[in-house]
This record gives sequence, structure tokens and C-alpha cells, in this order.
Amino acid sequence: MNIWFATNNRHKKDELAAILGRDLKIPADEGYSFNPEETGQTFYENSLIKARELYKLLGKNEVVIADDSGLCVDGLDGRPGVLSARYGMENGKKLTSLQQNIMLLDELGDNSVRTARFVCSMALLLDNNRFYIVQETLEGEIVEKSQMRGDGGFGYDPIFFVPHLNCTLAQASADEKNALSHRGKAGKLIADLLIKVT
Ligand code: IMP
Repeated sequence: MNIWFATNNRHKKDELAAILGRDLKIPADEGYSFNPEETGQTFYENSLIKARELYKLLGKNEVVIADDSGLCVDGLDGRPGVLSARYGMENGKKLTSLQQNIMLLDELGDNSVRTARFVCSMALLLDNNRFYIVQETLEGEIVEKSQMRGDGGFGYDPIFFVPHLNCTLAQASADEKNALSHRGKAGKLIADLLIKVT
């Protein structure tokens, strides 16, 4: 049985494959172009939109997992939130992760409210009418600009300090990140569901 993951992000594919302990296929593996419009106002709406879009594209009974995730910063009233991937985007041109990190640190400035959380909503779609959605978080703090560090992970990891690990998420090993991350926790729930329902 193939398990498809509705993403174009190979980092996310590798993370989830490690969490589930199974191979995953993503649209790019089969040369599919996959660009769903993320029109939802919430993470869970967008995860279901992505799952349904890939299920339709495949045109057959396949198990599809989709996630929607992002960073919610309290000092920015929860932004960038569902727009995390598109933060700072202009005329359809996305910024690099480094540019997004610097922009966010500049926007937050010396605001003393630095608490933040990663959120991950994950949908498991079995067919058009059978699906499960879970949502999990990882709490942390946005570092000062001079404290941005680490080469691991992706996206906002270098600016996200995890008190429990006493380092940024980009300084954590893949195993450490997966053990406590928003995607790790959601993925483990989906792994249990997969065993029960497939
Ligand atoms: P999505 O692919 O639409 O879910 O976009 C999620 C965006 O949120 C990514 O492009 C990253 O910018 C950010 N993000 C989500 N999860 C993580 C993470 O684990 N580390 C760092 N950034 C993340």
C-alpha cells in the first residue's frame, strides 16, 4: 500500500517518513505538479484542502496524508500563522528561509513578548468521506537576533528556542526534534490511526 504525503517540501517528507517509520511518496516523486490553493483560515482546513486535492489528482483509492503547519508568534498577534510559508512574499516571489527569519526578528524588534509555538495540523484521508485530523503544538521562544543559530531542520528552526532542549530547534538532532515537535507529535497520532484504520 502506498502512502502519499501532499507536500513539495522534501525536508517535511523526510521528517514524516522518519516519524512514521515508513516510506512516503510525494507528488514530485511521480512528476506530478501539485500546487493546491491554501484558502483556509485555519491549519486544519488547509490540511484537508491539500489532502483532498492530492486524492483527486491521484484518481484512485490511495491513502493520503497532508499537513499544514506554521509559526504563531504571540508578540505578533499570532502571525505569521497559516501564512508562514508565504511570509514576506511579494508578487508571487517567496523569500528564502533566512530572509524570512531576519524579517520576523526585525518585525518583532525588542518586543519582550517572545513566546511562540509551532502548530501542525495533519489529515489522514482514506477516501472522499473518511478522514481524520489531528493538531499538535511545540511551545518555545523567538531568540534575539544575535542568538539565531543552527544548521539543522528547516524554515524558522534557527530562531526558535526550545527551553526543554536549551537550544534552538536548528541545533537539535533530527531525533530530538521529532520526539517533541508539532509534526512529530501529530505524526505519531496519525501512525496509530493508520494501524487501526487501514
Ligand atoms: P506548509 O508547508 O504550508 O505547512 O508551510 C509551513 C511553513 O511553516 C514552512 O514553510 C515553514 O516556514 C514553517 N514551518 C512549519 N514547520 C516548521 C518546522 O518544523 N520548522 C521550521 N519551520 C516550520
